[in-house]
Amino acid sequence: MTADGKIGVGILGGGGILGAHMTGFAKTTDRCAVVVVAEANPGRDEAIRGLLGPDIRIVRDYHEVLARPDVEAVDIILPHHLHLPATVAAARAGKHVLVEKVMARNVWECDQMIAACEAAGVTLTVCHDRRYHGEWMALKAIVDSGVLGDIFFWKLDHNQNVVMPAASWAHWRDGIGGGCIMSCLTHQIDGLRWYGGEFERVTCMTCVRPERMEGEFLGVVTGTLKSGALAELSINWWTRSNQGDNRLWYEMVQVCGTRGEAYRMDGRGTFIRLHDGADPAALARYGQAALSGFVKVECGAWGGHERCIAEWIKMLRHEPAQIITSGRECRGTVEVAEAAYRSAETGKTIQLPIKPRRWKASGMPAALAGIVGARDLSYHVDTGAKR
Ligand SMILES: NC(=O)c1ccc[n+]([C@@H]2O[C@H](COP(=O)([O-])OP(=O)(O)OC[C@H]3O[C@@H](n4cnc5c(N)ncnc54)[C@H](O)[C@@H]3O)[C@@H](O)[C@H]2O)c1
Repeated sequence: MTADGKIGVGILGGGGILGAHMTGFAKTTDRCAVVVVAEANPGRDEAIRGLLGPDIRIVRDYHEVLARPDVEAVDIILPHHLHLPATVAAARAGKHVLVEKVMARNVWECDQMIAACEAAGVTLTVCHDRRYHGEWMALKAIVDSGVLGDIFFWKLDHNQNVVMPAASWAHWRDGIGGGCIMSCLTHQIDGLRWYGGEFERVTCMTCVRPERMEGEFLGVVTGTLKSGALAELSINWWTRSNQGDNRLWYEMVQVCGTRGEAYRMDGRGTFIRLHDGADPAALARYGQAALSGFVKVECGAWGGHERCIAEWIKMLRHEPAQIITSGRECRGTVEVAEAAYRSAETGKTIQLPIKPRRWKASGMPAALAGIVGARDLSYHVDTGAKR
């Protein structure tokens, strides 16, 4: 707690995603204060000050943050291989933890994180931002209303051109936790688990081009859910199809049921189409137009990070809060991605649950593995704009 009664927050890592997290902290300044940022690379200081103000305290070693009595909770936005050690250290220091997706590199690491936080009596929350996003939430409301009937198909895509130089932690399997599936298809896996329930089995194929990144830059996952629905998920970290004129999409979720279908697509919003007029309440709600085409539904205008952080702060203040991404809940998302890797390795369909295995290092350069100091570790997402 800070001197003026606010939740004192320390942020571990001051890289690219800090800006999205600040959309949340900037809107909760009446209840929390970011008192310090740990960032190993001084080259990031200017950007951090640009986001948090010129007086923000910046330290190089995150253990300094954990030693501060005015820090009650930490927001961990470090490379994936550091999520486990930073969470365990934070828990042992008695700090509540918010950790960015992906929770960790495998379920074994998730279990260590959960155990450390439970032993210390602190909360562990994962910032799976899609679950808090207005448009994703609108699709959840459609699905939960039952208006689509018996749901039998899901399709989820993630498309962007992510460039991973070898100097970046994210280039390496050890840093990112595999490749694009663990890093970002986990957005889609997590969204699907939230919408449609748990997976029963998973099959996966991947594509690797070592000059691009060590792990896969393309992945296709198919699976069945316990509900019986079939799911098709894909990630493409080469495509520019999400940019420019006549673009396709960055992310898309489609769901089909016996009485209708719905989708959410970046840049468009969330839509529903009814296949029959048998449900008068649905017709009254969405109108006759929903029988002949897709109609747009109303969505909250907030971003996922913004709302996740606002809810997290409420939870820490013991106010009513809608936190739906605890460590225990989100472990299952990592489990599906890990099962997908086991499928790609063996050529077999993998039944869930899987048995946790310790992370097997594959050779990320040692300089990237620990505290890194004055180095630029960054990768970049190509937005189509000139760099
Ligand atoms: N939700 C989303 O859409 C989204 C998008 C991008 C990234 N992310 C997630 O955010 C997290 C961070 O990713 P990013 O894109 O900001 O990566 P990044 O490489 O831009 O930032 C990571 C930062 O951590 C710093 N760092 C590394 N080791 C450190 C240490 N020991 N102590 C202190 N600082 C250290 C690096 O110098 C770097 O600035 C990851 O979990 C990633 O998956 C989420």
